[in-house]
Amino acid sequence: MHLSAKADAAGLPPAGEGESMLRYMDFIRSRTTLTRVPLVPEIELYQATEMTELWRATAADLEKWDDSPFWAFPWAGGQALARHVLDHPELVAGLRVADFGTGSGLVAIAASKAGASRVVAFDVDPFCEAAVRLNTAHNGVTVEFQARSPLGTELAGIDVVLAGDVFYQRDMAERFLVWGRALAGRGIRVLAGDPGRLYSPQQGVKDRGSHDVPTSTAIEDRLLMKTWVLELLPE
Ligand SMILES: C[S@@+](CC[C@H](N)C(=O)[O-])C[C@H]1O[C@@H](n2cnc3c(N)ncnc32)[C@H](O)[C@@H]1O
Repeated sequence: MHLSAKADAAGLPPAGEGESMLRYMDFIRSRTTLTRVPLVPEIELYQATEMTELWRATAADLEKWDDSPFWAFPWAGGQALARHVLDHPELVAGLRVADFGTGSGLVAIAASKAGASRVVAFDVDPFCEAAVRLNTAHNGVTVEFQARSPLGTELAGIDVVLAGDVFYQRDMAERFLVWGRALAGRGIRVLAGDPGRLYSPQQGVKDRGSHDVPTSTAIEDRLLMKTWVLELLPE
């Protein structure tokens, strides 16, 4: 389903400024629970669990929705990458960082906590801006949100690109890899957190380590997923 149709299905107006954004934020606050991220307990996010109203709604009343609201869970790839950035702050400290496919904003929040001088979070899902606003405020950090895809753009003024769990869909994975390798060729460090999704890169990456990431059976088929942090190498 097209992402903008999610908003229609929920009876909400398109995301934007002012009242629409407040309604999105109310929607998230009322249907999620502030919960620590399992692998990154220093960060709390507004999350859906099997127990929340949101989960029942997506499973039943809102059956036209994707059954995995991307902004409502810390995905395994994002958890591993956020952990890696917090454990290795020298990767981002004092640098300008972009978080591609930010979802809840987890990786962007980790980069900000690790000392990045500027963090820009990109996502095409209309709910993500509201989720990022709520989650950044709760965690006491500042992140700029851009509601667009940066794929193929020059990304001026950015030193590091982070991407949590973006190899689940063929077209996006392929375009991200072409773009990311070109950025790496210009000296921009590109790191991805990946639990071995279907379209993960099989070559041209440096393995920076792995974590066993606790996940939820609400979105995965396992409770623990081995998840790698990969650095894209230039072509
Ligand atoms: C599986 S979620 C991962 C979210 C977060 N990084 C994490 O690990 O928890 C993937 C995210 O990528 C976003 N996305 C997909 N295609 C995109 C594009 N072309 N540009 C920006 N974001 C995109 C989706 O809307 C979704 O929020």
